[in-house]
Amino acid sequence: MIKKVALVLAVVLVLIQFIRPAIHTTFVAQPKDLFALHPAPAAVQEKIRDACYDCHSMNTRMPWYAQVQPIRWWLADHIREGRQHLNFSQFADYPAKRAARKLQESIDEIRDDEMPLPSYTWIHTDARLTAEDEKAITEWLASVRDQIKAAGAESPSR
Ligand code: HEC
Repeated sequence: MIKKVALVLAVVLVLIQFIRPAIHTTFVAQPKDLFALHPAPAAVQEKIRDACYDCHSMNTRMPWYAQVQPIRWWLADHIREGRQHLNFSQFADYPAKRAARKLQESIDEIRDDEMPLPSYTWIHTDARLTAEDEKAITEWLASVRDQIKAAGAESPSR
């Protein structure tokens, strides 16, 4: 009985390898990217890329285990959902108000330790944020938020 169950499980595991969601990713810098619009100090940019860009941009680095089901399904879900909520690669498409709000939300999520997702930093140690990282990142995000707000106040039609 146990042997049969194990065999069925093994077959299922092999079969699900063929159900692969497409995950579009590119390593070309995106013209509408947050950093293309708002250049950041190198250290800040690098940290945000390491901590957020796998799920919130088109520059997703796929790990080898993304080739394995059902892990890929789980990752694909995070990436799809993450980009849907906030896509730094398409930042230029956000109207000023929305852009400022997304930056504020990012600051809040970082401060509350909600982002990057704990299940992610557990494996991606380079995405863990020290207190200094948090401070540097949130201060820079806040400065861009204020810049966008100030520009929005000058041209209220946008
Ligand atoms: C492993 C993938 C992953 C990483 C890494 C990640 N996020 Fe997220 N993020 C998500 C997902 C999935 C959601 C949507 C579901 C949720 O809110 O939990 C989300 C939601 C958000 C939201 C909410 C947006 C909204 O519209 O409500 C913000 C803001 C955010 N993330 C910012 C960040 C920032 C900033 C970083 C880096 C410091 C980061 N995230 C890292 C996956 C990720």
